Amino acid sequence: MYPYILVSLILTLIFALCGHRAIRTHAGLFYALAAGIVLGEVVYYVCGVYEVAPQWLTEYLVNLFKRGALSTAMFVVVMYAGAMDPRRPMVRRLMGIRGQLSIVACILTLGHNIIYGRKHFVALFTNPGEMKPQTLAAALISVVMIALMIPLMVTSFQAVRGKMKARDWKKLQRLAYGFFALIYVHVMVLLVPKFSKKWVDILIYTVMFGVYLVLRGSKAWKGKTHSCAG
Ligand code: HEM
Repeated sequence: MYPYILVSLILTLIFALCGHRAIRTHAGLFYALAAGIVLGEVVYYVCGVYEVAPQWLTEYLVNLFKRGALSTAMFVVVMYAGAMDPRRPMVRRLMGIRGQLSIVACILTLGHNIIYGRKHFVALFTNPGEMKPQTLAAALISVVMIALMIPLMVTSFQAVRGKMKARDWKKLQRLAYGFFALIYVHVMVLLVPKFSKKWVDILIYTVMFGVYLVLRGSKAWKGKTHSCAG
């Protein structure tokens, strides 16, 4: 058993904490790299490269991208950074690259969408009756997720953000909470029916999203009590 989300979280933290300076100064390079990875993984699956590639490569490396775990880990780090104390040096580092990291995560998510969408979106729009209920539900949820992700991604680019009023930008970025919640629902809908095989992943996702909820809730509560006191 290979817990994709745990491995992805560790890799994301190493990437973000060690590479934060490079990510800030050469963001465009990282976006291009992410787009190259998406292109590579689509070719890997669409052209059947996976059939001749060593199994370990597919299982331990390509699947991290294809299954959406690595991009989700990036969203998790972005969301946690916003829910933690910004005075902590580690959090400050992550806050400095929040926008860039979420753009990389959105680009990488496109690979997952294309690879799974080829099968499940085609079924959804042509023959939904033939789909397993959990796949149908997950595909429907992912339509909403994509609709939320695209404006979040576009407005994360500094050039677009700079043209928006700060208040409007903040309001729109609140969609991220809905997007984040739907990721959990999407994953649970797909993994719970395979509980006996996937219980470790279910546990990790539940702890990860549950702790976030507590952290974000307590930050909001503290903000409220401070503004009341002030
Ligand atoms: C829009 C953003 C999306 C995000 C952030 C996302 C995220 C995820 C994550 C985190 C997993 C679990 C990975 C793991 O730990 O094994 C997953 C699984 C899955 N997703 Fe998505 N997903 C998205 C969109 C889609 C779309 C558009 C489809 C297809 C229409 C889709 C189909 C699937 C399927 C079939 C699985 C199960 C994979 C397996 O167990 O082999 N997802 N997704």
